[in-house]
Amino acid sequence: MTVTKRILSGIQPSPLHIGNYFGAIHQWVSLQKENECFFCIVDLHSLTANYHTSLAQASFETAAMYLACGIDPKQSTLFIQSSVPYHTQLLWLLATKTPLGWLNRMTQFKDNKAKDESLGLYTYPVLMAADILLYDAHLVPVGEDQKQHIEFTRDLALRVNGLAEKDLFVIPEPMMGKSNTRVMSLKDGTAKMSKSDPSELSRLLMTDTRDAIVRKIKGAKTDSEPWPNTPSDLVGRPEMTNLLSLLSVLKNQSMTEILQTVQSCKNLKEMLMEEMFLFLNPIQAKYHDLIRDRSFVLDVLNQGNTYAQEVAYGTFDRIQHFFMD
Ligand code: TYM
Repeated sequence: MTVTKRILSGIQPSPLHIGNYFGAIHQWVSLQKENECFFCIVDLHSLTANYHTSLAQASFETAAMYLACGIDPKQSTLFIQSSVPYHTQLLWLLATKTPLGWLNRMTQFKDNKAKDESLGLYTYPVLMAADILLYDAHLVPVGEDQKQHIEFTRDLALRVNGLAEKDLFVIPEPMMGKSNTRVMSLKDGTAKMSKSDPSELSRLLMTDTRDAIVRKIKGAKTDSEPWPNTPSDLVGRPEMTNLLSLLSVLKNQSMTEILQTVQSCKNLKEMLMEEMFLFLNPIQAKYHDLIRDRSFVLDVLNQGNTYAQEVAYGTFDRIQHFFMD
């Protein structure tokens, strides 16, 4: 018998790319069948960077994409972070117990501070810890880049539990898929695919048209080494590894099988374009229907926001005594 676990994860509202799908949403869809899932649109986190012109519209479109990818509102709670004020309240309580040294070590802050330095970016991990701890989440399904944030959340929860001398918080665990936990940029196989990369050609968006898919995959960086016969020939070839891993997940075939059937870079790109299109096409059709059915998406969010608020209140009420009494 499988034991139902509490799951929480989130994505910043912005046009989602295939890294977000394979790193996070793909896992969410299968987890929701047997667990109690909360999937959040973390609009407050996205204020630390400038991705969008209208936050409300970006959040709406992100919700529509969650649904189009197969998140089922009958099984999962979809909600918007800023609609539950306990996230920022808990952020503050946790901040009072967070050593500065822990924040100084966070790679996201170190990597981005030159362009986006702010107190918000600095406290980003504490808000993320609040998101997770507020729902007593056991598991947090994310891509590999978020592992450090989950470890931070665990350390902070253990620290507060230690100070409180009781199990105030559930200690969450990161959960990563078996493959494609780190989808790389199409232009540089050593950098992760990211919404903040200045080159649009570096990422494939979930909403990309067939023309855009063709253009981006055609222009994707490869190398001039001979065709790899076995997975071990891929060592030191990050761009080829990235494209082949994507084809392997899309065709549901092992890397060995893929290497045997593809046999050239030209075939690799052509097959990847076709498989990517076949994969994205039905998701995009659903997405465009949902964008037109605005009231359905808003209803899902309203119900999700109300339920998330109730659950968050329960936890906040339980834990605030330690901080306030
Ligand atoms: P964000 O919006 O940057 O990323 C959302 C999810 O997508 C995954 N991801 C990737 N996975 C594989 N390859 C990639 N190239 C790639 N790019 C992104 C991320 O790992 C993530 O799972 N801080 C989080 C948002 C957040 C959150 C939370 C997540 C805020 N509160 C609470 C979980 C629980 C983030 O950066 O999202």
